[in-house]
Amino acid sequence: MDRRLGRILISRDEIAARVAELGQAISRDYAGRAPLLVGVLKGAVVFTADLMRAIALPSAMDFMSVSSYGSGTRSSGVVRLTADLSISIEGRDVIIVEDVVDSGRTISYLRRNLATRHPRSLALCVLLDKTSRREVDVDVDYVGFVIPDEFVVGYGLDFDGWHRNLADIAVLEPATS
Ligand code: IMP
Ligand code: MG
Repeated sequence: MDRRLGRILISRDEIAARVAELGQAISRDYAGRAPLLVGVLKGAVVFTADLMRAIALPSAMDFMSVSSYGSGTRSSGVVRLTADLSISIEGRDVIIVEDVVDSGRTISYLRRNLATRHPRSLALCVLLDKTSRREVDVDVDYVGFVIPDEFVVGYGLDFDGWHRNLADIAVLEPATS
């Protein structure tokens, strides 16, 4: 599928300001505790790294990987765990950090999977929420931005592995000719 970069939907400055606010909210809510951020590879790597530095508490991070997309822009609906955590989360205050919630399938799978491991608490922080595309109910505790139903790339988000290195979040559009 031929695609090209379109307009910037969220600029790097807007992202930085919002990530700072999310970090402040988490710092308030988890005061006296030491949250463990679980980033979802690979899209949430950039967000997780920035968010962690905006949290003024002792905190740790780990990552896991799931696949739900082939190489298109729509979820296959089937979620598979492709890389697991490297540490136990038992008794920990876990915050799942995800780049974008679309149908909700990926994150609801992850939430259920992590809940069985007996964390002390489990919360969800997503940078982008495409609320209009939801097929599965998910409780999102921290949301960066609600966005329309458009495929976006940049700030860690990819299309077929590309564009993760853009500093802004841009819309990916079909090539016109
Ligand atoms: P869901 O399972 O349908 O909620 O899809 C969530 C996953 O799809 C995310 O983890 C992303 O990897 C991917 N995804 C959904 N929308 C976008 C997008 O606009 N850009 C890049 N990846 C996306
Ligand atoms: Mg993802």
